[in-house]
Amino acid sequence: MFATYFLLLSSLGLVITTQAQDCSKPAGGDNMGLKGDDILLQTFPEGKKVTFACNVGYVTAGGSASITCNAGNWTTLKLKCERSNCGSAGEVENGNVDYPEGTEFGDKLVVTCNTGFHMVPNKGQILCGAQGWMDRLPECEVVTCDPPPAVAKGVFSPVKESYDYREVVQYKCQSDYTLNGSSSISCSEHGTFGPAPTCVIVRCEDPNIANGQQVDGSRPPHGYRSTVTYECKSGYVIEGGRTLTCGIDSQWLPGLPTCQRRDCGSAGEVENGNVDYPEGTRFGDKLVVTCNTGFKMVPNKGQIICGAQGWMDRLPTCEVVRCEDPNIANGYQVNGSRPPHGYNSTVTYECISGYVMEGRRTLTCGIDGQWLPGLPTCQRKNCGSAGDVDNGNVDYPEGTRFGDKLVVTCNTGFNMVPNKGQILCGAQGWMDRLPVCEVVTCYPPPEVVNGVFTPVKESYDYREVVQYKCQNDYTLNGSSSISCSENGTFGPAPTCVMVRCEDPNIANGDQVEGSRPPHGYMSTVTYECKSGYVLEGGRTLTCGIDSQWSPGLPTCQRITPPPKPTTTSTTTTTDSRPTTPDNHGDNLAIGLGVTVLVSITVLYLQHY
Ligand SMILES: *[C@@H]1O[C@H](CO)[C@@H](O)[C@H](O)[C@H]1NC(C)=O
Ligand SMILES: *[C@@H]1O[C@H](CO)[C@@H](O)[C@H](O)[C@H]1NC(C)=O
Ligand SMILES: *[C@@H]1O[C@H](CO)[C@@H](O)[C@H](O)[C@H]1NC(C)=O
Ligand SMILES: *[C@@H]1O[C@H](CO)[C@@H](O)[C@H](O)[C@H]1NC(C)=O
Ligand SMILES: *[C@@H]1O[C@H](CO)[C@@H](O)[C@H](O)[C@H]1NC(C)=O
Ligand SMILES: *[C@@H]1O[C@H](CO)[C@@H](O)[C@H](O)[C@H]1NC(C)=O
Repeated sequence: MFATYFLLLSSLGLVITTQAQDCSKPAGGDNMGLKGDDILLQTFPEGKKVTFACNVGYVTAGGSASITCNAGNWTTLKLKCERSNCGSAGEVENGNVDYPEGTEFGDKLVVTCNTGFHMVPNKGQILCGAQGWMDRLPECEVVTCDPPPAVAKGVFSPVKESYDYREVVQYKCQSDYTLNGSSSISCSEHGTFGPAPTCVIVRCEDPNIANGQQVDGSRPPHGYRSTVTYECKSGYVIEGGRTLTCGIDSQWLPGLPTCQRRDCGSAGEVENGNVDYPEGTRFGDKLVVTCNTGFKMVPNKGQIICGAQGWMDRLPTCEVVRCEDPNIANGYQVNGSRPPHGYNSTVTYECISGYVMEGRRTLTCGIDGQWLPGLPTCQRKNCGSAGDVDNGNVDYPEGTRFGDKLVVTCNTGFNMVPNKGQILCGAQGWMDRLPVCEVVTCYPPPEVVNGVFTPVKESYDYREVVQYKCQNDYTLNGSSSISCSENGTFGPAPTCVMVRCEDPNIANGDQVEGSRPPHGYMSTVTYECKSGYVLEGGRTLTCGIDSQWSPGLPTCQRITPPPKPTTTSTTTTTDSRPTTPDNHGDNLAIGLGVTVLVSITVLYLQHY
């Protein structure tokens, strides 16, 4: 602005001077102006001397300040003006003086206080004027803080009215309380203390970690900085830190871990099969192995559980199916595949003669290497029951199968016809018809002299009875009836005999009762002895079938004194009497018997 103004003036002056000898208004150098009243003139006469002066804020830097108008031209102006310099303004304690533009006229110095100090007066800029720095430097005074806030359940120290910048107070809590926040705060550059800590009761809840258990660390109540260490149950894996620390906010740090079911991951591949994880691969999950068609699992364990240490079994393998060559006793293969028998191959079997198949004759090799529907067996043919035999019995001591024999027996009195008591069970059944049991028959029994039998037939069946009868005067000797035996014979036939017992002749005895001659069968006679005789033997006699009196004839013995014997036989008898008194009766009987025998013999001899 100034420059433009001066330029304009100079140009005008130049125009004027060319027209007159006066000088036009002279142009000064930079930062200078005409001194005094000359500044008001527009033209200057010849010889006029004008003096220049430096503008305010500028000082002469040498050279004459005056010029003279000479023939319309001014002499050369030598004056140089340069800006005045205020120089250093000095130092500010706890602060800094900066001269961003310099220290020359118009420049500003800038005062800043160090952190924690404030300027008094708060005038941070001073201008360099024509007369030097236009103000005194301010001072940097330290910042002060009012006492920090009191805290519940705690104290701080030191306690003062005022605190300088950076002065520190320490907080402490009562026992059981924990400082939340920094234990010390300091007076800030803003004249305030930072936020005071608080005194808090820290109680972390006993951690509840599903499928986990504490293995180390504190017991409740868990105070500040207590630690607990957890582990997971078998089969579970910890996620998160296993050691927890009770934080100031009564929360566990770094947060409760979780126990995740262990992941067994992939169990691998099964050749010719497939591994499936229907539930997943975590602890307790099952994998399922299946084999492709024609392959079977070895071992046959298609499921494996993910356990605490990983999959609890090795994967089975899928092996090509092979059925063993069937071994069927008494059977033979008639058709089908030859070993090795693969899946779906078939074989057909038959049984040897006499054996019948139980089960299916055609087998298919199943997926598990077993023949389906299972091996048949060749059972001996069963001939079953052969039926019943009247009046006999059919027995199967070995059974009714091929090769076994049945045994037929006839009841007593029956004959087997034909006489073949054993029949074999053959491939086509029992190899013979059952025999029959025919009743045993007898020819008529023998005729008897003087007698007859009834009934009279040509033939008699087993057990049939015939009755014998004798003509008058004849007596049956033997059983009156005989029967046809199982041997086909009658027992011995009775005979018809003429029974005649002789009239007894008993010396010194008399018949007192009974029959008179002729004495027939079962006739009886009773005897008594004459006076002076005693009967020895039975007094009553019966006529037997053999025409002899029974029990034999008695004798009549004379009653005599003991020392006087009568016969030699009685003497013999009496001699033995005293020695064996116990046998007295027997000896007497023998004695009597001998006597009777002798007497009868005598009679018999006299008779003939
Ligand atoms: C004045 O100055 C002009 C320009 O320099 C010049 O042409 C002229 O001759 C001078 N006059 C005198 C009298 O020296
Ligand atoms: C601890 O101090 C912080 C900051 O002042 C506050 O947010 C927090 O709630 C305090 N914690 C407790 C447990 O008082
Ligand atoms: C053997 O098998 C073939 C083919 O299945 C069949 O045609 C033939 O009749 C069978 N032979 C016997 C003896 O079963
Ligand atoms: C097994 O054999 C049957 C009958 O011959 C046939 O239908 C089936 O497709 C076969 N299966 C395989 C897997 O070969
Ligand atoms: C039948 O004959 C047997 C042998 O010959 C014989 O032992 C048995 O006593 C006889 N039975 C009869 C009742 O004759
Ligand atoms: C009676 O029969 C039996 C047996 O057959 C025989 O021993 C006996 O002599 C017979 N008696 C008479 C008197 O014929």
